[in-house]
Amino acid sequence: MLSPNPVSLLCALLLCLPLAIVFTSTGTTNLKPKATIAGILGGNPRGNFLFVGSGGTHTSREAKNSEEDKFVIPLPEDDEALFRVAAHAKAKPVSPRKIAFVFLTTTPLPFAPFWESYFNGTPKNLFNIYIHADPNFSYDPPFTGVFSDRVIYSKHTERYSPTLISAARRLLAHALIKDSSNYMFVLLSASCIPLHSFRFTYNTLVNSRKSFIEILNNEIGSYDRWAARGPDVMLPEVRLEDFRIGSQFWALTRKHAKLVVADRTLWSKFGLPCVRWDTCYPEENYFPTLLSMWDARGCVPATLTHVDWRDRNDGHPRTYNASEVGPELIESMRRQRPRYGDDGSNGSDWYTSTSGRWNDPFLFARKFSPDALEPLMRIANDVIFRD
Ligand SMILES: *[C@@H]1O[C@H](CO)[C@@H](O)[C@H](O)[C@H]1NC(C)=O
Ligand SMILES: *[C@@H]1O[C@H](CO)[C@@H](O)[C@H](O)[C@H]1NC(C)=O
Ligand SMILES: *[C@@H]1O[C@H](CO)[C@@H](O)[C@H](O)[C@H]1NC(C)=O
Repeated sequence: MLSPNPVSLLCALLLCLPLAIVFTSTGTTNLKPKATIAGILGGNPRGNFLFVGSGGTHTSREAKNSEEDKFVIPLPEDDEALFRVAAHAKAKPVSPRKIAFVFLTTTPLPFAPFWESYFNGTPKNLFNIYIHADPNFSYDPPFTGVFSDRVIYSKHTERYSPTLISAARRLLAHALIKDSSNYMFVLLSASCIPLHSFRFTYNTLVNSRKSFIEILNNEIGSYDRWAARGPDVMLPEVRLEDFRIGSQFWALTRKHAKLVVADRTLWSKFGLPCVRWDTCYPEENYFPTLLSMWDARGCVPATLTHVDWRDRNDGHPRTYNASEVGPELIESMRRQRPRYGDDGSNGSDWYTSTSGRWNDPFLFARKFSPDALEPLMRIANDVIFRD
Protein backbone atom coordinates (compact mmCIF):
# COMPACT_ATOMS: atom_id res chain seq x y z
CA MET A 1 0.00 0.00 0.00
CA LEU A 2 1.24 3.45 -0.91
CA SER A 3 0.60 6.00 1.74
CA PRO A 4 0.08 9.52 0.39
CA ASN A 5 2.92 11.87 1.28
CA PRO A 6 2.13 15.21 2.88
CA VAL A 7 3.03 17.19 -0.28
CA SER A 8 0.57 15.33 -2.49
CA LEU A 9 -2.09 15.62 0.20
CA LEU A 10 -1.54 19.34 0.36
CA CYS A 11 -1.80 19.63 -3.42
CA ALA A 12 -5.01 17.60 -3.41
CA LEU A 13 -6.37 19.85 -0.70
CA LEU A 14 -5.52 23.02 -2.60
CA LEU A 15 -7.02 21.65 -5.81
CA CYS A 16 -10.22 20.63 -4.09
CA LEU A 17 -10.66 23.75 -2.02
CA PRO A 18 -12.30 26.03 -4.60
CA LEU A 19 -14.66 23.31 -5.78
CA ALA A 20 -15.59 22.32 -2.26
CA ILE A 21 -16.50 25.90 -1.49
CA VAL A 22 -18.50 26.28 -4.69
CA PHE A 23 -20.54 23.17 -4.00
CA THR A 24 -20.96 23.98 -0.36
CA SER A 25 -22.30 27.42 -1.03
CA THR A 26 -24.69 26.25 -3.75
CA GLY A 27 -25.76 23.04 -2.04
CA THR A 28 -29.04 22.68 -0.23
CA THR A 29 -27.44 21.82 3.09
CA ASN A 30 -25.30 24.09 5.18
CA LEU A 31 -22.27 21.88 5.77
CA LYS A 32 -19.15 23.88 6.40
CA PRO A 33 -16.28 23.66 3.90
CA LYS A 34 -14.16 22.04 6.60
CA ALA A 35 -16.52 19.08 6.86
CA THR A 36 -16.62 18.70 3.09
CA ILE A 37 -12.88 18.63 2.75
CA ALA A 38 -12.58 16.20 5.63
CA GLY A 39 -14.99 14.03 3.68
CA ILE A 40 -12.89 14.25 0.54
CA LEU A 41 -9.65 13.42 2.24
CA GLY A 42 -11.13 10.71 4.40
CA GLY A 43 -13.04 9.07 1.57
CA ASN A 44 -15.84 8.68 4.10
CA PRO A 45 -17.99 11.74 3.63
CA ARG A 46 -20.54 12.61 6.24
CA GLY A 47 -23.71 14.54 5.66
CA ASN A 48 -25.26 14.81 2.26
CA PHE A 49 -22.15 15.03 0.15
CA LEU A 50 -20.75 12.48 -2.19
CA PHE A 51 -17.21 11.95 -3.29
CA VAL A 52 -16.92 9.89 -6.46
CA GLY A 53 -13.41 10.35 -7.77
CA SER A 54 -11.21 7.80 -6.06
CA GLY A 55 -8.67 7.68 -8.85
CA GLY A 56 -7.96 5.02 -11.46
CA THR A 57 -10.89 2.77 -10.65
CA HIS A 58 -13.64 4.30 -12.76
CA THR A 59 -15.59 2.20 -15.17
CA SER A 60 -15.93 3.74 -18.61
CA ARG A 61 -19.47 4.84 -17.76
CA GLU A 62 -18.33 6.63 -14.64
CA ALA A 63 -15.46 8.21 -16.52
CA LYS A 64 -17.96 9.96 -18.77
CA ASN A 65 -19.57 11.70 -15.80
CA SER A 66 -19.30 15.43 -15.66
CA GLU A 67 -16.40 17.01 -13.84
CA GLU A 68 -18.44 17.91 -10.77
CA ASP A 69 -19.44 14.28 -10.20
CA LYS A 70 -15.81 13.53 -9.61
CA PHE A 71 -15.75 15.75 -6.58
CA VAL A 72 -18.63 16.60 -4.33
CA ILE A 73 -22.31 16.59 -5.18
CA PRO A 74 -25.31 16.67 -2.86
CA LEU A 75 -27.34 13.46 -2.76
CA PRO A 76 -30.84 13.86 -4.16
CA GLU A 77 -33.67 14.34 -1.67
CA ASP A 78 -36.12 12.85 -4.12
CA ASP A 79 -36.33 9.08 -3.57
CA GLU A 80 -36.45 8.06 -7.23
CA ALA A 81 -33.40 10.13 -8.08
CA LEU A 82 -31.56 8.91 -4.98
CA PHE A 83 -32.28 5.26 -5.77
CA ARG A 84 -31.17 5.75 -9.37
CA VAL A 85 -27.78 6.99 -8.18
CA ALA A 86 -27.53 4.20 -5.59
CA ALA A 87 -28.39 1.52 -8.14
CA HIS A 88 -25.18 2.50 -9.93
CA ALA A 89 -23.00 2.47 -6.83
CA LYS A 90 -19.84 0.43 -7.11
CA ALA A 91 -20.77 -3.26 -6.97
CA LYS A 92 -17.57 -4.80 -5.71
CA PRO A 93 -16.91 -3.87 -2.10
CA VAL A 94 -13.61 -2.13 -1.48
CA SER A 95 -11.34 -3.72 1.15
CA PRO A 96 -11.43 -3.75 4.13
CA ARG A 97 -15.11 -4.61 4.14
CA LYS A 98 -17.30 -2.64 6.49
CA ILE A 99 -20.59 -3.29 8.19
CA ALA A 100 -23.17 -0.55 7.73
CA PHE A 101 -25.36 -0.35 10.83
CA VAL A 102 -28.51 1.38 9.63
CA PHE A 103 -30.94 2.60 12.29
CA LEU A 104 -34.59 3.32 11.63
CA THR A 105 -35.97 5.45 14.46
CA THR A 106 -38.53 8.00 15.59
CA THR A 107 -36.94 8.48 19.04
CA PRO A 108 -33.49 9.22 20.46
CA LEU A 109 -31.46 6.01 20.81
CA PRO A 110 -31.91 4.89 24.44
CA PHE A 111 -29.02 2.42 24.18
CA ALA A 112 -26.54 4.85 22.64
CA PRO A 113 -24.10 4.48 25.60
CA PHE A 114 -24.28 0.71 25.24
CA TRP A 115 -23.59 0.90 21.48
CA GLU A 116 -20.78 3.30 22.29
CA SER A 117 -19.08 0.56 24.39
CA TYR A 118 -19.80 -1.93 21.61
CA PHE A 119 -17.89 0.20 19.10
CA ASN A 120 -15.28 1.32 21.61
CA GLY A 121 -11.85 0.26 20.42
CA THR A 122 -13.20 -0.94 17.06
CA PRO A 123 -11.14 0.35 14.14
CA LYS A 124 -13.15 3.13 12.45
CA ASN A 125 -12.51 1.58 9.06
CA LEU A 126 -14.60 -1.53 9.82
CA PHE A 127 -18.05 0.03 10.24
CA ASN A 128 -20.35 2.91 9.43
CA ILE A 129 -23.54 4.12 11.05
CA TYR A 130 -26.49 5.71 9.26
CA ILE A 131 -29.69 6.90 10.93
CA HIS A 132 -33.11 7.56 9.43
CA ALA A 133 -34.87 9.82 11.92
CA ASP A 134 -38.47 10.77 11.11
CA PRO A 135 -38.40 14.61 11.01
CA ASN A 136 -41.87 14.81 12.60
CA PHE A 137 -40.32 13.94 15.95
CA SER A 138 -37.77 15.71 18.09
CA TYR A 139 -34.59 14.06 19.26
CA ASP A 140 -33.58 15.01 22.77
CA PRO A 141 -30.99 14.00 23.84
CA PRO A 142 -29.53 14.55 20.37
CA PHE A 143 -27.40 11.97 18.56
CA THR A 144 -23.85 12.23 19.89
CA GLY A 145 -20.59 10.29 19.90
CA VAL A 146 -20.53 7.58 17.21
CA PHE A 147 -24.04 8.69 16.24
CA SER A 148 -23.36 12.39 15.72
CA ASP A 149 -23.73 13.65 12.13
CA ARG A 150 -24.98 10.24 10.99
CA VAL A 151 -28.61 11.20 10.25
CA ILE A 152 -29.43 10.94 6.55
CA TYR A 153 -32.06 13.04 4.80
CA SER A 154 -35.19 11.46 6.32
CA LYS A 155 -38.93 11.59 5.70
CA HIS A 156 -42.05 10.89 7.72
CA THR A 157 -42.77 7.22 8.50
CA GLU A 158 -45.92 5.52 9.69
CA ARG A 159 -46.92 1.97 10.52
CA TYR A 160 -49.39 0.25 8.19
CA SER A 161 -47.95 2.10 5.22
CA PRO A 162 -45.10 1.67 2.72
CA THR A 163 -43.19 4.55 4.35
CA LEU A 164 -41.13 2.11 6.42
CA ILE A 165 -39.98 0.37 3.22
CA SER A 166 -38.98 3.73 1.76
CA ALA A 167 -37.03 4.68 4.87
CA ALA A 168 -35.07 1.41 4.79
CA ARG A 169 -34.35 1.84 1.07
CA ARG A 170 -33.18 5.42 1.74
CA LEU A 171 -30.75 4.10 4.34
CA LEU A 172 -29.44 1.46 1.93
CA ALA A 173 -29.05 4.06 -0.81
CA HIS A 174 -27.02 6.47 1.34
CA ALA A 175 -24.85 3.65 2.68
CA LEU A 176 -24.24 2.26 -0.83
CA ILE A 177 -23.25 5.60 -2.28
CA LYS A 178 -21.28 7.09 0.57
CA ASP A 179 -18.87 4.24 1.15
CA SER A 180 -18.02 1.52 -1.34
CA SER A 181 -16.48 -0.50 1.49
CA ASN A 182 -19.91 -1.08 3.02
CA TYR A 183 -20.40 -4.81 2.47
CA MET A 184 -23.16 -5.93 4.84
CA PHE A 185 -26.12 -3.69 5.69
CA VAL A 186 -27.81 -4.41 9.02
CA LEU A 187 -31.18 -2.84 9.83
CA LEU A 188 -31.74 -1.94 13.48
CA SER A 189 -34.24 0.00 15.57
CA ALA A 190 -33.93 2.07 18.72
CA SER A 191 -35.00 -0.93 20.83
CA CYS A 192 -32.41 -3.35 19.39
CA ILE A 193 -29.24 -4.39 21.21
CA PRO A 194 -26.18 -6.41 20.12
CA LEU A 195 -25.82 -9.91 21.63
CA HIS A 196 -22.11 -10.39 20.93
CA SER A 197 -18.92 -8.38 20.62
CA PHE A 198 -18.30 -6.28 17.53
CA ARG A 199 -15.50 -8.64 16.51
CA PHE A 200 -17.77 -11.71 16.62
CA THR A 201 -20.50 -9.91 14.66
CA TYR A 202 -18.04 -8.56 12.14
CA ASN A 203 -16.52 -11.97 11.45
CA THR A 204 -19.92 -13.62 11.08
CA LEU A 205 -21.29 -11.04 8.67
CA VAL A 206 -18.27 -10.11 6.63
CA ASN A 207 -17.38 -13.74 5.93
CA SER A 208 -20.86 -14.51 4.64
CA ARG A 209 -21.51 -14.40 0.93
CA LYS A 210 -25.25 -14.55 1.62
CA SER A 211 -27.77 -12.17 3.10
CA PHE A 212 -29.61 -13.12 6.28
CA ILE A 213 -33.30 -12.45 5.86
CA GLU A 214 -36.30 -14.33 7.19
CA ILE A 215 -38.32 -15.70 4.26
CA LEU A 216 -41.46 -17.55 5.31
CA ASN A 217 -43.95 -19.15 2.97
CA ASN A 218 -47.53 -20.32 3.59
CA GLU A 219 -47.87 -18.41 6.85
CA ILE A 220 -51.31 -18.01 8.39
CA GLY A 221 -52.73 -14.76 7.06
CA SER A 222 -50.59 -14.72 3.89
CA TYR A 223 -53.59 -14.21 1.64
CA ASP A 224 -54.94 -11.31 3.69
CA ARG A 225 -51.57 -9.58 3.68
CA TRP A 226 -51.22 -10.12 -0.06
CA ALA A 227 -54.73 -8.75 -0.61
CA ALA A 228 -54.35 -5.81 1.81
CA ARG A 229 -54.27 -3.39 -1.14
CA GLY A 230 -57.39 -4.95 -2.64
CA PRO A 231 -58.01 -8.37 -4.20
CA ASP A 232 -55.67 -9.11 -7.11
CA VAL A 233 -54.07 -5.65 -6.97
CA MET A 234 -50.63 -7.28 -6.64
CA LEU A 235 -51.05 -9.09 -9.96
CA PRO A 236 -49.32 -9.71 -12.25
CA GLU A 237 -46.02 -8.60 -10.66
CA VAL A 238 -46.48 -10.47 -7.37
CA ARG A 239 -48.47 -13.69 -7.47
CA LEU A 240 -49.79 -15.09 -4.19
CA GLU A 241 -47.42 -18.06 -4.52
CA ASP A 242 -44.46 -15.67 -4.74
CA PHE A 243 -45.54 -13.67 -1.70
CA ARG A 244 -43.39 -14.06 1.42
CA ILE A 245 -43.40 -12.88 5.04
CA GLY A 246 -40.44 -12.17 7.29
CA SER A 247 -38.90 -9.89 9.88
CA GLN A 248 -37.79 -6.52 8.56
CA PHE A 249 -34.61 -6.88 10.62
CA TRP A 250 -32.31 -8.26 7.93
CA ALA A 251 -28.64 -8.14 7.08
CA LEU A 252 -28.20 -7.68 3.34
CA THR A 253 -25.07 -8.05 1.24
CA ARG A 254 -23.99 -5.18 -0.98
CA LYS A 255 -25.28 -7.08 -4.00
CA HIS A 256 -28.73 -7.40 -2.45
CA ALA A 257 -28.78 -3.83 -1.18
CA LYS A 258 -28.26 -2.77 -4.80
CA LEU A 259 -31.06 -5.08 -5.95
CA VAL A 260 -33.39 -3.45 -3.44
CA VAL A 261 -32.65 0.15 -4.42
CA ALA A 262 -32.81 -0.71 -8.13
CA ASP A 263 -36.24 -2.34 -7.86
CA ARG A 264 -39.15 -0.60 -9.53
CA THR A 265 -41.28 -3.61 -10.43
CA LEU A 266 -42.25 -4.84 -6.97
CA TRP A 267 -42.29 -1.34 -5.54
CA SER A 268 -45.00 -0.43 -8.10
CA LYS A 269 -47.27 -2.71 -6.04
CA PHE A 270 -45.83 -2.70 -2.52
CA GLY A 271 -45.74 1.10 -2.64
CA LEU A 272 -49.54 1.29 -2.96
CA PRO A 273 -51.55 2.21 0.14
CA CYS A 274 -53.48 -0.55 1.91
CA VAL A 275 -57.24 -0.64 1.97
CA ARG A 276 -57.13 -2.89 5.06
CA TRP A 277 -54.76 -1.68 7.76
CA ASP A 278 -55.05 -4.71 10.08
CA THR A 279 -53.21 -6.91 7.56
CA CYS A 280 -50.94 -4.15 6.28
CA TYR A 281 -47.28 -4.72 7.18
CA PRO A 282 -45.60 -3.97 3.84
CA GLU A 283 -42.07 -3.82 5.28
CA GLU A 284 -42.43 -7.44 6.43
CA ASN A 285 -43.43 -8.56 2.95
CA TYR A 286 -41.53 -6.43 0.46
CA PHE A 287 -37.96 -7.45 1.31
CA PRO A 288 -38.52 -11.22 1.73
CA THR A 289 -40.70 -11.38 -1.39
CA LEU A 290 -38.21 -9.45 -3.50
CA LEU A 291 -35.18 -11.49 -2.44
CA SER A 292 -37.06 -14.78 -2.61
CA MET A 293 -38.13 -14.00 -6.19
CA TRP A 294 -34.81 -12.66 -7.41
CA ASP A 295 -32.05 -14.44 -5.53
CA ALA A 296 -33.36 -16.97 -3.03
CA ARG A 297 -30.16 -18.96 -3.23
CA GLY A 298 -28.16 -15.93 -2.21
CA CYS A 299 -30.03 -15.77 1.10
CA VAL A 300 -29.91 -17.61 4.39
CA PRO A 301 -33.69 -17.44 5.02
CA ALA A 302 -33.51 -16.41 8.67
CA THR A 303 -33.15 -13.25 10.70
CA LEU A 304 -30.21 -12.92 13.08
CA THR A 305 -32.18 -10.52 15.29
CA HIS A 306 -33.79 -12.38 18.18
CA VAL A 307 -37.41 -11.54 19.00
CA ASP A 308 -40.10 -13.15 21.15
CA TRP A 309 -43.61 -13.21 19.71
CA ARG A 310 -45.05 -15.72 22.20
CA ASP A 311 -48.28 -14.63 23.87
CA ARG A 312 -48.53 -11.45 21.83
CA ASN A 313 -51.11 -10.65 19.20
CA ASP A 314 -51.22 -6.85 19.22
CA GLY A 315 -48.52 -6.51 16.53
CA HIS A 316 -45.75 -5.87 19.08
CA PRO A 317 -43.29 -8.48 20.33
CA ARG A 318 -42.34 -8.91 23.97
CA THR A 319 -40.41 -5.96 25.39
CA TYR A 320 -37.85 -6.77 28.07
CA ASN A 321 -37.68 -4.35 30.97
CA ALA A 322 -34.87 -3.68 33.43
CA SER A 323 -35.89 -6.32 35.96
CA GLU A 324 -35.68 -9.04 33.29
CA VAL A 325 -32.23 -8.19 31.93
CA GLY A 326 -29.36 -10.26 33.25
CA PRO A 327 -26.78 -12.82 32.13
CA GLU A 328 -29.42 -15.59 31.96
CA LEU A 329 -31.54 -13.72 29.44
CA ILE A 330 -28.56 -12.96 27.20
CA GLU A 331 -27.19 -16.50 27.43
CA SER A 332 -30.59 -17.98 26.65
CA MET A 333 -30.93 -15.81 23.55
CA ARG A 334 -27.46 -16.79 22.42
CA ARG A 335 -28.23 -20.50 22.81
CA GLN A 336 -31.33 -20.30 20.62
CA ARG A 337 -31.18 -20.63 16.85
CA PRO A 338 -33.24 -18.74 14.28
CA ARG A 339 -36.26 -20.17 12.52
CA TYR A 340 -35.36 -20.96 8.92
CA GLY A 341 -37.77 -20.34 6.06
CA ASP A 342 -40.16 -23.10 5.09
CA ASP A 343 -39.16 -23.07 1.44
CA GLY A 344 -35.86 -24.68 2.13
CA SER A 345 -36.98 -27.35 4.57
CA ASN A 346 -36.11 -29.93 1.92
CA GLY A 347 -32.49 -29.18 2.63
CA SER A 348 -31.39 -27.03 -0.26
CA ASP A 349 -28.05 -25.26 -0.30
CA TRP A 350 -29.90 -22.24 1.05
CA TYR A 351 -28.75 -23.26 4.45
CA THR A 352 -25.08 -23.47 3.77
CA SER A 353 -23.70 -20.43 5.45
CA THR A 354 -20.12 -19.95 6.49
CA SER A 355 -21.13 -20.12 10.12
CA GLY A 356 -22.49 -23.61 9.62
CA ARG A 357 -25.62 -25.34 8.47
CA TRP A 358 -28.67 -24.58 10.59
CA ASN A 359 -26.48 -23.04 13.18
CA ASP A 360 -26.38 -19.32 12.59
CA PRO A 361 -26.04 -17.33 15.82
CA PHE A 362 -28.33 -14.51 16.81
CA LEU A 363 -26.28 -11.32 16.65
CA PHE A 364 -28.89 -8.81 17.85
CA ALA A 365 -32.08 -8.84 19.91
CA ARG A 366 -35.22 -6.78 20.41
CA LYS A 367 -37.18 -5.26 21.99
CA PHE A 368 -35.73 -3.72 25.12
CA SER A 369 -37.35 -0.91 27.06
CA PRO A 370 -35.18 2.17 27.71
CA ASP A 371 -34.85 1.35 31.41
CA ALA A 372 -32.88 -1.78 30.45
CA LEU A 373 -29.86 0.41 29.72
CA GLU A 374 -28.44 0.22 33.22
CA PRO A 375 -28.52 -3.59 33.65
CA LEU A 376 -27.19 -3.95 30.09
CA MET A 377 -24.24 -1.69 30.86
CA ARG A 378 -23.54 -3.69 34.00
CA ILE A 379 -23.14 -6.98 32.08
CA ALA A 380 -21.71 -5.50 28.87
CA ASN A 381 -18.04 -6.38 29.24
CA ASP A 382 -18.35 -9.56 31.30
CA VAL A 383 -21.20 -11.18 29.39
CA ILE A 384 -22.36 -9.54 26.20
CA PHE A 385 -19.07 -8.48 24.64
CA ARG A 386 -17.30 -11.62 25.82
CA ASP A 387 -17.20 -14.24 23.05
C1 LIG B 1 -45.72 14.52 9.67
O1 LIG B 1 -45.16 15.17 8.57
C2 LIG B 1 -45.97 15.14 7.41
C3 LIG B 1 -45.22 15.72 6.26
O2 LIG B 1 -43.92 16.05 6.60
C4 LIG B 1 -47.26 15.86 7.67
O3 LIG B 1 -48.07 15.84 6.54
C5 LIG B 1 -47.96 15.18 8.82
O4 LIG B 1 -49.13 15.86 9.16
C6 LIG B 1 -47.08 15.07 10.04
N1 LIG B 1 -47.73 14.21 11.01
C7 LIG B 1 -47.70 14.46 12.30
C8 LIG B 1 -48.41 13.46 13.18
O5 LIG B 1 -47.15 15.40 12.78
C1 LIG C 1 -41.21 -6.25 33.75
O1 LIG C 1 -41.69 -7.35 33.01
C2 LIG C 1 -42.22 -8.38 33.79
C3 LIG C 1 -42.55 -9.55 32.84
O2 LIG C 1 -43.31 -9.11 31.77
C4 LIG C 1 -43.41 -7.87 34.56
O3 LIG C 1 -43.94 -8.90 35.38
C5 LIG C 1 -43.00 -6.70 35.42
O4 LIG C 1 -44.12 -6.12 36.04
C6 LIG C 1 -42.31 -5.63 34.56
N1 LIG C 1 -41.77 -4.60 35.43
C7 LIG C 1 -41.96 -3.32 35.19
C8 LIG C 1 -41.31 -2.37 36.16
O5 LIG C 1 -42.64 -2.91 34.26
C1 LIG D 1 -37.85 -27.96 -2.36
O1 LIG D 1 -38.40 -29.02 -3.10
C2 LIG D 1 -39.37 -28.65 -4.03
C3 LIG D 1 -39.96 -29.91 -4.64
O2 LIG D 1 -38.97 -30.83 -4.97
C4 LIG D 1 -38.72 -27.77 -5.08
O3 LIG D 1 -39.68 -27.36 -6.04
C5 LIG D 1 -38.15 -26.54 -4.39
O4 LIG D 1 -37.49 -25.73 -5.31
C6 LIG D 1 -37.21 -26.94 -3.29
N1 LIG D 1 -36.83 -25.77 -2.53
C7 LIG D 1 -35.66 -25.19 -2.71
C8 LIG D 1 -35.46 -23.96 -1.95
O5 LIG D 1 -34.81 -25.64 -3.44
